[in-house]
Amino acid sequence: MKIGVLTGGGDCPGLNAVIRAVVRKSDAQSSRVVGLRNGWKGLLDPSPMDLDSRMVSGILHVGGTVIGTSRTNPFKDAAGPEKALKNFKLLGLEALIAIGGEDTLGAAAKLYERGLPVVGVPKTIDNDLYGTDFTFGFDTAVSIATDAIDRIHTTAESHNRVMVVEVMGRHAGWIATYAGIAGGADVILVPEIPIDLDEVCDMILRRHSRGKSFSIVVVAEGAQFIEKPGGDRDLIVQESQKDEFGHVRLGGISQVLSKAIERRTRYETRFVVLGHVQRGGSPTAHDRVLATRFGVFATEMVHQGEFGKMAALQGNRIVAIPLAEATSQLKTVDMEIYGIAKGFFG
Ligand code: F6P
Repeated sequence: MKIGVLTGGGDCPGLNAVIRAVVRKSDAQSSRVVGLRNGWKGLLDPSPMDLDSRMVSGILHVGGTVIGTSRTNPFKDAAGPEKALKNFKLLGLEALIAIGGEDTLGAAAKLYERGLPVVGVPKTIDNDLYGTDFTFGFDTAVSIATDAIDRIHTTAESHNRVMVVEVMGRHAGWIATYAGIAGGADVILVPEIPIDLDEVCDMILRRHSRGKSFSIVVVAEGAQFIEKPGGDRDLIVQESQKDEFGHVRLGGISQVLSKAIERRTRYETRFVVLGHVQRGGSPTAHDRVLATRFGVFATEMVHQGEFGKMAALQGNRIVAIPLAEATSQLKTVDMEIYGIAKGFFG
């Protein structure tokens, strides 16, 4: 059997671990694997890369993706889907493993309906894919953000400052919530709950009136103000131009927030944007194991002809769920967990 594999969307620690698992498992079953470079671009404008066990040796612990990624949307142009299906046939492929988040797997679900034999693997540091308890990459991002919060703590305390730490999380505040709990944040702000500036400042003032001289605020890049200081309630963006899936480039909420906090509380405030550092470098042991399990399971799904589905973690088991279900909605932060974080605010 000849299997194609692609990685789409933002990169994420653990992608190489999935690719390695797919190749090793396929080799053991005498199947061939071809890497399609740079996400869906690899089916629109193919320059395939043969992958064998030798080529994936030594990549388990390496961040990024050896086959490249992009935010190419095969449905952007009307001719795109047919072109992708045609190239799939021309490459002699019999199955495709698409590793990605809501956008990549949303396109996979639509191409499956047009006849593409595809299986999905859930990837995103944001952990917002529905139907899977966790995506690989999330644990690594949380570890990096927690380490950053720990470091920020000591400088915040030395200078008696409020520090606002901006983490990734476009639609969901999973990284902010987990890293905030792990790092002992005094306030955590997520896209799921509009920011009430009065409440945030009251919490900081209350904390300082108890004798604390510093505070740590963790904010997800996609959080929005109930009312933005000085105006409307839009997302704060770096770049309003949209990518092929219609997303603007987020970033900058920590700067706006820190100015507003300093103005209202009169405490010296600084901001830090962790940005792509959260997506770089080696995956944690947890993510290497999860990515490996997903890769092996997805390859088994291919050999059993379970197309149109995604490997998902439910409890401690990997199961197959329909791609259509996984991409039908986003998985936002569990309010029970956020409630636990809230118990430590202020
Ligand atoms: O895909 C998840 C994500 O990490 C988001 O949290 C973030 O907004 C986006 O990717 C950034 O992507 P890019 O690499 O295109 O800047």
